Amino acid sequence: MNSISVIADRDYQVVIDIDWLRGIEPYLVNRGQIAVIVSENMRDRIANLPSTDAQIHIFTVPDSEAGKSFATYQKVLDWLGAAGFTRNDLIVAVGGGAVTDLSGFVASSWLRGIEWVAVPTTLAAMVDAAVGGKTGINSEYGKNLIGSFYSPISVLVDLSWLSTLSDRDFAAGLAEVIKCGFIVDTQIVELLKDRNLLEVRSDRDLTLELITRSIAVKAKVVSGDFKESFDREILNYGHTLGHAIELHSKYALRHGECVSIGLVFAANLANESGILADQATDLHKKILSNLGLPTSYEGRHWPELRANMAIDKKSRSGTLRFVAISELGRTLRIEAPSESDLLAAYERLCS
Ligand code: GLY
Repeated sequence: MNSISVIADRDYQVVIDIDWLRGIEPYLVNRGQIAVIVSENMRDRIANLPSTDAQIHIFTVPDSEAGKSFATYQKVLDWLGAAGFTRNDLIVAVGGGAVTDLSGFVASSWLRGIEWVAVPTTLAAMVDAAVGGKTGINSEYGKNLIGSFYSPISVLVDLSWLSTLSDRDFAAGLAEVIKCGFIVDTQIVELLKDRNLLEVRSDRDLTLELITRSIAVKAKVVSGDFKESFDREILNYGHTLGHAIELHSKYALRHGECVSIGLVFAANLANESGILADQATDLHKKILSNLGLPTSYEGRHWPELRANMAIDKKSRSGTLRFVAISELGRTLRIEAPSESDLLAAYERLCS
């Protein structure tokens, strides 16, 4: 077990490789009520919660982007209201990124903020969504457009949840891991570049190292720029087109799958702009496809994706801005790329 600190609106630890049922115990003390917000498919796995004097309520929510909606948000607030939740009470979020995003947003807005603990159950949530205090729900205009920066009091990363994931979901989480390698920790690229999904999945020590390194990247970046005034944007490498595809696919594709396509696009764009060498550009596609992740999308959708990208949170007054790399581990921004570079980068995805 080890811990990584995040310094943000509140300082907290991400505890890695812990039995979450033991890790949660100290947070249950001196509470009147505890709401465990759990994804529907994990409901049966939280039967053995530690004993506590507090009244425990279990609320199940969909663990999907489509479920990260106003309707679900309102339902959870109504549950808290009916139960009479006070500022001394606690929310425990057990699930993938959709559940931790939603629960954190509920925690930030109920009574203007009550404490919450994140227990991520997917690889994507462990290395990304549950760490860093971005909480929120989706709008019909885009992903995560409604939300807040509101940190949990702790994140408990229990690797035993990984056995519940399909290969597809495990691979989707690896897209965020390799992103951390491309932008900051090049050792992650070294560890992944000659491995396939099965080789990673079946190697617990490697998985633990990848998770720890990715969380360390995220914690360091978030601690330096919690509210994303600039530096934190690097965590969105691959996400500008990724979010546009996610919205376009109506969330049929996993977030990590869309990020995977977006990473290849961002590398292509940097290459088209003369910033990134061919070898590093090709490495994006090679690593991601070895891990079983998609690296292409249908060409005819470009006009809709181009329109979706305009609402990205990095865009300013209609000008597109992309996180890019000039070499592995070195980030920069591409401001207002030409339409021909954008199209060329996209067309390379479709071949
Ligand atoms: N997922 C990107 C961030 O937390 O900033």
